[in-house]
Amino acid sequence: MLNDKTVSEKAVLQNYAHGDLLNAIEAGLTKLGKSKENVSLDDLAPVDEFHIGSRGATVHLMQQLAFSAKSHVLDVGCGLGGAARFVATQFNNKVSGIDLTSEYIATGNALCQWLGLSDQISLQQGSALSMPYQSNTFDGAYMMHVGMNIKDKTALFSEIYRVLSPGAMFGIYDVMRVQAGDLAYPVPWASNDVDSLLANEADYVNALQSAGFKVEAVNNRHDFALQFFDDVRLRNEKNGGLPPLGLHTLMQASTGQKLTNLMSNINRKLVSPTEIIVRKV
Ligand SMILES: C[S@@+](CC[C@H](N)C(=O)[O-])C[C@H]1O[C@@H](n2cnc3c(N)ncnc32)[C@H](O)[C@@H]1O
Repeated sequence: MLNDKTVSEKAVLQNYAHGDLLNAIEAGLTKLGKSKENVSLDDLAPVDEFHIGSRGATVHLMQQLAFSAKSHVLDVGCGLGGAARFVATQFNNKVSGIDLTSEYIATGNALCQWLGLSDQISLQQGSALSMPYQSNTFDGAYMMHVGMNIKDKTALFSEIYRVLSPGAMFGIYDVMRVQAGDLAYPVPWASNDVDSLLANEADYVNALQSAGFKVEAVNNRHDFALQFFDDVRLRNEKNGGLPPLGLHTLMQASTGQKLTNLMSNINRKLVSPTEIIVRKV
């Protein structure tokens, strides 16, 4: 008999599986006139930052987290590790990332090698609900667009609380429910309502507080999200099509439908990307 956790982990793996991702990224680079020998952090940002707002959203979140060169930071649900490479480059620190999807981890580790960051960054496959780290290991953590795939938010935040040192900051940037209403599917994290494990701001705050965190800030990023999608549309129109690398490299044929549905759900104020900043006390 499969339990809830196993069923949702299976759905996650089905949703994010690509099959030939590293080659697809290399092919995109070739179209950009680049290769793994001379690729830059910025070349990869359109494909390796898999959340609304891409690099801009990462910069906004990190500005609130007070990481430093001394901080060993955890990226929960790191995907391809784009944010991890940005953090390691910005702060010259150590970053560890964990993600359920093994293809993302293998691809992410190859991208770290291309950029010469393998000594600073370690990405490994595993579940955020049961992480292979000792208690009090990390000086800070962040999680971007992951909670929509995990039902038991209290279990998730308790596990993150466990691996953080006292005083550590933790930043979340997830898509959250704003009000009830039928969502358009598929969206980037799920193909139907059963696999979409959204919660609202208050649920997140309650789960974080039950895990022991002190909530320091909550920022609804609705306007930022719509502006981001508008900018992408204008850029694509100006350039006469999609760029060589982008979220379409990850989501392939379903990209247009998933992003159109996501924008519609945000426009109708049913969901919104939201940041929550907390501290382990
Ligand atoms: C939309 S992607 C975001 C990836 C990355 N955080 C980013 O912003 O680029 C969601 C990621 O969450 C991961 N994920 C979902 N459930 C997870 C779990 N229980 N444990 C670890 N990773 C999980 C997926 O494998 C996927 O890589």
